[in-house]
Amino acid sequence: MLGVLIALLMCLLMLHFLRQRWSHTSYPPGPLRLPIIGSTWRIGVKVHEDTIIRLAKQYGPISMLWLGQMPIVVLSGYEAVKEGLINLSEDFAERVSTPFLKALGQGLGIVLSNGHTWKQQRKFGVTTMRKLGLGKKGMEPQIEQEAHQLVETFAREKGQPFDPAIPIINSISNVICAMAFGHGFPVEDKEFIKLMEIIEYVSKFLNSFSHILYELFPWIMKHLPGPHKKALADAEIVLSFARKEVEKHKKHHAVHEPQDFIDFYLLQMKKKKHDPNSTFNEENLIHCILELFIAGTETSALTLRWALLLMASHPDIQEKVHKEIEDVLGSSQLLHYQDQKKLPYTKAVIHEIMRFKYILLFGIPRQCSKDVNMRGFLIPKGTVIVTDLRSALLDPKQWETPEEFNPNHFLDKGGNFVEREAFLPFGAGARACLGEQLARVELFLFFASLLRAFTFQPPEGVKELNTDPIVGISLAPRPYKLCAIPRSSSS
Ligand code: HEM
Ligand SMILES: *[C@@H]1O[C@H](CO)[C@@H](O)[C@H](O)[C@H]1NC(C)=O
Ligand SMILES: *[C@@H]1O[C@H](CO)[C@@H](O)[C@H](O)[C@H]1NC(C)=O
Repeated sequence: MLGVLIALLMCLLMLHFLRQRWSHTSYPPGPLRLPIIGSTWRIGVKVHEDTIIRLAKQYGPISMLWLGQMPIVVLSGYEAVKEGLINLSEDFAERVSTPFLKALGQGLGIVLSNGHTWKQQRKFGVTTMRKLGLGKKGMEPQIEQEAHQLVETFAREKGQPFDPAIPIINSISNVICAMAFGHGFPVEDKEFIKLMEIIEYVSKFLNSFSHILYELFPWIMKHLPGPHKKALADAEIVLSFARKEVEKHKKHHAVHEPQDFIDFYLLQMKKKKHDPNSTFNEENLIHCILELFIAGTETSALTLRWALLLMASHPDIQEKVHKEIEDVLGSSQLLHYQDQKKLPYTKAVIHEIMRFKYILLFGIPRQCSKDVNMRGFLIPKGTVIVTDLRSALLDPKQWETPEEFNPNHFLDKGGNFVEREAFLPFGAGARACLGEQLARVELFLFFASLLRAFTFQPPEGVKELNTDPIVGISLAPRPYKLCAIPRSSSS
């Protein structure tokens, strides 16, 4: 009896397999798709750091996976990623609208929106970020101020072992606050602390198994209590916080020149008041703010945490950065973003940190808005497109020593900085990161200020710091402690 059942099952599987081969010959290659579970069997329950890159090793630069009924195409390696981001920019410009992201984003804002709303909000966002991003009139003085604050906070540890994660996230968030609201918060402010907790919780949730459960079984999860309810309630708190700031701005509007994101947005709303096509309204505004927090905090903060960890484990490189800053700027002069032009080694190290410990496991997925033919393969409308930015940053065809932390990737023989085409941490094309400029200014000013002021070392007795990541949607360093020993010359 059992034998017959097994034989029958085998027959069914064979049939299923053959039908797949015959009917979808033109889909990109990938692991066998089984009924119901799709090809998730190939990934297993635990995603590892190299799961996706290994998939490409087996199936090539364009491969296809099935998450249950959902087709996913993974573009891997610099060439395929670039082709997807740039040549097929328009066809792959939509974001995936999963059940949880729909509940969170409500089709509003920039990161999670699509179509007409996205086009308008993004265009405005790009212009505004440019105005706010760079220069003395923009955010630079505030970022310099935050960097200075962070140096002071580290100095208070007096060289004793401490975990820099919280001070870093506070500083980075305050930069976003300054950009969005026109002011930062003292770290002991109750509302600010709440805001920090929320951002941490929502980021953790997006990285968690509960999140995946919600995406797979929304109709059940919607009715159950759990972390997803808290994440959505938390997002609502940020939205009402933003709403309050908007009200304050409306009271003082037109008193001064626009200085922050809300100012510029309110001005835009006024300009477009009589345009029936306009999507500039307060609901979109507060969603933009929520998204700036979610997109702009964890990313930069994780990068900076990796930076310090890598410096503590590469004392030779750290020393060269310090020496360059010292030689070029002396110890008294203030640090500005434009100084990076005179600091090629420091700049190369920052780039190499972003390459070597890239913080996103596979970029931020897109969706295909129509049937697309890519290199002879059919990618059907609605397919989730994973442009694996990390695979471009680790592509053995592009980098001399992809698996090694090696700042020479960004230096020529004469020690000059060189841009690399495959350096795509911010993506490219229609959906490229809106905060790239801000993130670059922020990372340079924080990193250079800290390395100028301190030597970073593992605590006494610790031989080696663990640099393996915690794997989720993002790759985070394991919590660590280090010592920030003040440099004698700068204080
Ligand atoms: C180290 C820091 C950062 C990294 C590595 C990073 C990376 C990325 C990536 C890979 C994307 C998706 C691009 C794509 O779909 O092709 C993205 C999108 C985005 N980022 Fe960043 N980001 C960083 C910092 C920031 C900051 C500081 C902000 C704003 C304050 C920001 C705002 C955004 C927004 C709004 C989007 C969505 C754009 C859209 O969907 O049209 N990011 N970022
Ligand atoms: C992508 O676009 C570039 C520039 O437009 C072109 O040179 C290249 O051949 C295109 N690649 C493919 C595979 O179509
Ligand atoms: C915007 O308005 C114009 C006419 O003013 C109309 O032709 C167009 O279809 C509208 N676009 C959208 C997306 O509503």
